[in-house]
Amino acid sequence: MSEVTLENIVSLCKRRGIIYPNSEIYGGIGGFYDYGPVGVEMKNNLKRYWWKNIVDKRENVVGIDGTIITHPKVWEASGHIENFGDEVVECKKCHQRFRPEDISGVCPKCGGKEFTEPRSYNLLFETEVGVIEDAKVKAYLRGEACQTIYLDFKNVVDSTRQQIPLGIAQIGKAFRNEVTPGKLTFRSREFEQWDLQFFVHPKEMEKWFEYWKEERMKFYKELYRKPENLRFRQHPKDKLVFYAKDAYDVEYLAPWGWAENEGIHWRSDYDLTQHSKYSGKDLSYVDPTSGEKYIPWIVETSGGVDRTLLMILFDGYEEEKMENGETRTVLKIHKDIAAYRAAVFPLVSNKPEIVNKAREIFDTLADDIKVIWDSRGNIGKRYRYQDEIGTPYCITVDYETLENGTVTVRDRDSMKQVRVKTEDLEEYIS
Ligand code: GAP
Repeated sequence: MSEVTLENIVSLCKRRGIIYPNSEIYGGIGGFYDYGPVGVEMKNNLKRYWWKNIVDKRENVVGIDGTIITHPKVWEASGHIENFGDEVVECKKCHQRFRPEDISGVCPKCGGKEFTEPRSYNLLFETEVGVIEDAKVKAYLRGEACQTIYLDFKNVVDSTRQQIPLGIAQIGKAFRNEVTPGKLTFRSREFEQWDLQFFVHPKEMEKWFEYWKEERMKFYKELYRKPENLRFRQHPKDKLVFYAKDAYDVEYLAPWGWAENEGIHWRSDYDLTQHSKYSGKDLSYVDPTSGEKYIPWIVETSGGVDRTLLMILFDGYEEEKMENGETRTVLKIHKDIAAYRAAVFPLVSNKPEIVNKAREIFDTLADDIKVIWDSRGNIGKRYRYQDEIGTPYCITVDYETLENGTVTVRDRDSMKQVRVKTEDLEEYIS
């Protein structure tokens, strides 16, 4: 068993096509990352896993997909223009900027010891909308994805048969011009969030806040392999925003310490009240049964997709000594998140009957399950590769397959092999 390091994961991600630094041939650009062929499958699986849990399985949650650029007034109403900052200090020697909590009197870049006084710095990315130079309007890339949910709240209520309590879910990009991006995708400048905004009657706020707090921890405990590495961190009362009565972070024990994975926030009626005020449109809700009119309160659960994927990699990574004395690197990640459910190998690549049978199996499985093909090199190397990307099963078609219609299925975690009839294969691996 090994203690995973950030370097282990950075190296694995690059080596196996999970995550690459963006614009690498130009020297990279701080805080921007691309997902490679394996990473994109994992990330899509992870988003589907969340969507299934939050939207598909619940009668009172619906989804939306909003835009990245919105009317600029949204960010005045939300408070982001005035108040979405970090404090920065500048090293007087190399002029690099840092958050005060990231330095302890010494510049991490040049070793300088003199800094400017802390200044506040807004994290919103600005852009311009419009084609005529003089008439361009300043706009912002959304600093948090959830604002679009508030903007669509009335549309959702008016266009569906939903009633409060009602959840609106969204997975989408957010942008923050972070002062110190770092730790791979943990703090990046372009990232994805999964948000559930759950709209409730004010009298039921306490109940739903507790409900979602428990639900979200349960979600992460089922997703990660080591639930003991999860905990809640309650925000200190004196650090809460004025409208919040309570807030918790779900934290995971990353190689550098406890790290925020998701926030569960008590937003009261703040968001809909602000948008009512700034837009001039009444966003209150009328209960269809009682006729009561009120501004719904909101329980927010807001997590990072990229962060969760990164923590899944920390959680699943092992370097294990095998019986033959060699070490294997294996990603013991949740089977539903793995890029491929199974790999299909012909034992040898120069026997057409075996290759054709393997192709037939691959094609049949590929109709329903994500599978990967590999006929290159020896079986040992193929296993090592699949272990490193976390493929739960490796299916080998060999001479015996031609005789009795069974294949070898090797399990990623135990490395045990069993023979399975080809007609039972799909059920076995799914
Ligand atoms: N709407 C509430 C909100 O945005 P947040 O705590 O600022 O709350 C929610 O962000 C989640 O988004 C965090 O728990 C984290 O997982 C993710 N996140 C925030 N900033 C991030 C960054 N710079 N890079 C990657 N993920 C980030």
